[in-house]
Amino acid sequence: MSESFYVTTPLYYVNAQPHLGHAYTTVIADALARWHRQHGESVFFLTGTDEHGEKIAQAAHAQGVSPQTFADRASQWFRSLWASLGISYDRFIRTTEPQHVEVVRKVLEVLHNQGALRRGTYIFWYCVPCETAWSESDFPDPHTRLCPSCQRPTDRAEEDDYFLDLEPHRAWLIEYIETHPSFILPVSRRNEVLGMLKKALPPLCVTRPKDRVPWGIEVPFSSKHVTYVWFDALLNYLSALDWPDGAAFQECWQKAGAIHLIGKDIIRHHAVYWPIILHALKIEPPKTIFAHGWWLVEGEKMSKSKGNMVDPVAVVKTYGMDALRYFLLRDVPLGEDGIFSESALIRRINADLANDLGNLVYRSLSMLEKHAHGRIPSGRPSEEDRHRMDAIEHAIALAIRTLAIDEALKAIWDWVNQANRSIEEEAPWELARSGHKEKLDSFLYRLADRIRVVALWLWPFLPKAAQSIWEQLGFEIPVDRSLLPSALDHPIPPGQKIRKAPPLFPRIV
Ligand code: MSP
Repeated sequence: MSESFYVTTPLYYVNAQPHLGHAYTTVIADALARWHRQHGESVFFLTGTDEHGEKIAQAAHAQGVSPQTFADRASQWFRSLWASLGISYDRFIRTTEPQHVEVVRKVLEVLHNQGALRRGTYIFWYCVPCETAWSESDFPDPHTRLCPSCQRPTDRAEEDDYFLDLEPHRAWLIEYIETHPSFILPVSRRNEVLGMLKKALPPLCVTRPKDRVPWGIEVPFSSKHVTYVWFDALLNYLSALDWPDGAAFQECWQKAGAIHLIGKDIIRHHAVYWPIILHALKIEPPKTIFAHGWWLVEGEKMSKSKGNMVDPVAVVKTYGMDALRYFLLRDVPLGEDGIFSESALIRRINADLANDLGNLVYRSLSMLEKHAHGRIPSGRPSEEDRHRMDAIEHAIALAIRTLAIDEALKAIWDWVNQANRSIEEEAPWELARSGHKEKLDSFLYRLADRIRVVALWLWPFLPKAAQSIWEQLGFEIPVDRSLLPSALDHPIPPGQKIRKAPPLFPRIV
């Protein structure tokens, strides 16, 4: 039976156009999903949009349309960005879908019936952009009461709501985190969460009064309340699997365990509230919650109010989808902050993609055209190559399983650079000039086969470039039909006709 892999992104708020931060998490999830599929696993890759709550209602109001119309339109922005970035999700969930709404109502009902929810007066300060309620003790400066997460002003509210007590679950959660080292990653985030759990947890308010926030999922036991948007949104990870009876729930949640990829700003919601909600429902926690860093622009987090948002649609249009994917995946180790600038992107494109990868493919195919009549000559891979190939395949697998995607790319580039060096060292043009036909053929064969391996390895990360290299080498069946690691052991067939194309990544000047 094949292994299963379940990976999720956060559900993106539809109040504004997607930006680079959204593209980042989704590209990471896509690379992981593709790698696991390529290794024969049964993959479920979930993404989607978060469509309820005050901020979406406000954005819709500003445009003079209903929240549903607004959300219908805005969720399309995300879908079309994902298409242009080659995102291979299996399910795009929207929190306004009937299936999701039903699950949220069911969960509330279960908790209500078991007496886990209590009613009370809620006094809090609300940050609309973060859709997060803060209590007096959360503010470092009680006079300004700025949101501790985004530093914007908060609004005081006092209302009648339903609460889930978190405190009874705190000791369990601490122990769970301490006994499951890969539950919250990276380690710095695990420590941050353990820090949050040092003092008593205030109850989580899971509803909002309908007369104040009408845009939400109606609570089954109170017609005066809707569901708090975060409580609603987190449940997508279950509703997309047809919880509680769906086969997908068994397969993905129970058997595989979820990998939740998130940004570091939403760690509290995912690593404190979510496991406790699940615990109250007697459902196992996800396998891993990995919080990545932020992309900063000139030292600051991107935000609409600062007007420094990087538009991924424009970047893809100018530089291509693989260039952006490569930059995001390679430039910073997952978990750390990165600095986005066009010059940094261009540097990576020119050095790694145009010079190393593009050049290797272009000059190798040119030599095959010139010295082998555009066909793969006879030959076989060297023993040394086979050993190195196995070692690199292992290194990539280890990197992917530990979510060190930049390391996987570095391992592939070791191979690319070694192939480039072999051209310099073996100087095939000399062999051609001095008439060493056999030696030349055997070198060109090995070179072509090394490039074949590059295409296989690159596919999860740069799917378009990988397919192009594959086609240039003369393969008819798409590269994604080959399963690794076994495909590595099927060398390129001698005699195959190549189809050289223009350079994959022209240098940007
Ligand atoms: N809707 C909630 C998530 C609910 S999940 C059940 C939400 N949405 S969001 O659209 O505001 O943010 C989605 C993700 O984008 C978060 O993981 C956030 O960390 C990420 N990013 C937002 N800005 C970012 C950067 N500048 N850089 C990297 N990622 C960032 O939160």
